[in-house]
Amino acid sequence: MNYPIWLVPFLGGSWIIGIISIIHIFISHFAVGSGFYLALTERKAYKENDEGIYDYLKKHTRFFVLVTTAGGAITGVGIWFSVSLVSPDTIAILIQNFAFAWAWEYLFFAAEIATAFAYYYTWDKVSKEIHLKLANLYLWFSVFTLVIINGILTFMLTPGKWIQTHNWLDGFLNPTYFPSLFIRILIMLAIAGIYALVTSSRIKDDNLREKMVKYSAKWLMPVFVAGPIIGFWYFTQIPHETIMTIANGIQTSGVGNFSILTRATYLSLILSGTIVVFAYVGPYLNPKGFTFGISLMFLLCGFMVTGTTEWMREMLRKPYTVYNYIYSNGVKKDEILNIDKMGFLKSGKWANACASKTDNDIQKGQIIFRYECMSCHTVDGYRSMKKLLGTRDQDSIVGFLNLLHQTEPAKNPYHGIMPPFAGSDEDIHLLSSYLYSINNSPNSSDHKISSR
Ligand code: HEC
Repeated sequence: MNYPIWLVPFLGGSWIIGIISIIHIFISHFAVGSGFYLALTERKAYKENDEGIYDYLKKHTRFFVLVTTAGGAITGVGIWFSVSLVSPDTIAILIQNFAFAWAWEYLFFAAEIATAFAYYYTWDKVSKEIHLKLANLYLWFSVFTLVIINGILTFMLTPGKWIQTHNWLDGFLNPTYFPSLFIRILIMLAIAGIYALVTSSRIKDDNLREKMVKYSAKWLMPVFVAGPIIGFWYFTQIPHETIMTIANGIQTSGVGNFSILTRATYLSLILSGTIVVFAYVGPYLNPKGFTFGISLMFLLCGFMVTGTTEWMREMLRKPYTVYNYIYSNGVKKDEILNIDKMGFLKSGKWANACASKTDNDIQKGQIIFRYECMSCHTVDGYRSMKKLLGTRDQDSIVGFLNLLHQTEPAKNPYHGIMPPFAGSDEDIHLLSSYLYSINNSPNSSDHKISSR
């Protein structure tokens, strides 16, 4: 509410973030996983003095450098742009609390990219020993980027003691820090293996291809052996309430009412299971029959698992962006009482400036809607207000908003799904006028306000 708002028609801002992030995660996990893959595989080539593996690695590095530097960097910047436009209040919290960590993150990131280029351009130009050292150096830098960003990402779901102390280290080394770190490393190994299956399937020499395909398939196994144990550890550390959402969904899934979270969990488990079974009977047991086409199927499946799993992790945190502290719409939990007293439009700098331009109730209501609801809803696209409101009249909309206004979980049936409404009775009136007008205005463009 203190910043301008970014209106994304039809999809809504959260989908823009989601799409960019999933691509970014798939690439960045490849970047770190490849740190392990390149270092260990080059070591293998060195020890076995195997020129075939060296040749393969050279070609793999080219693919690796292209994907990670171009794709990783572009989507990384994309995330910054989209999150700071969609959730400026949350990003402000992350930047202010973790300024030190971000600084380190960028340092390691720059070192990682520089080493990747050095690694790529020095093939055949430096001794084998030095080149192997570069591989190890890249591994360390890339792992450090994970060690840092992991603290900030996990903070959002489990801020832990930070909620009381506001000490950045309490937030950084939070309850899910370690399980998440380990599980991500395992996932990274698997993703590096999946990408390596793509490049190794194109090796011309039959023997070398079989050898490298089988070798790369092994990289998918650790996550399936240790993943469930660490996954369980992770789930023991996340807020009880979100576990209940999953559990309720699973218990009732027989009768057809299962939550989105449960569906995502199932989908992620089924897809992961499919990958491991196919990786075992395919490239591992029968590397001969493994083709480039099949490797692309693995890539696609891997991408889908990453997508659903990350999406599920995001869902766990809803309706918060930092759990128990700030909601998706940028309203802080402990500010609500104050906003109720002051009125929403007077509480935020930018919202206030927008509202001062109009005397029209519907337009004022629209501003409240944009700030409080549009982080999750759109007017007529994703989670459309048109559809969700249906034929409700203004009184029933007011009734709905009064329920949404309750901060006590027992009184608010939407608790855990939506943030409580923050604002005065006057705000409820303004918002309901706007919401009612969505389906009941003969010419809804009448109340469009300029987005200056
Ligand atoms: C954190 C995300 C989030 C925010 C912010 C949010 N909602 Fe929702 N809302 C949801 C979800 C999730 C549902 C359930 C969606 C579904 O069934 O498709 C929902 C459902 C609804 C429904 C249908 C409820 C019913 O019982 O029929 C209405 C109406 C609604 N929201 C209005 C609002 C309004 C008005 C605001 C702003 C004051 C708001 N929402 C803010 C996530 C959000």
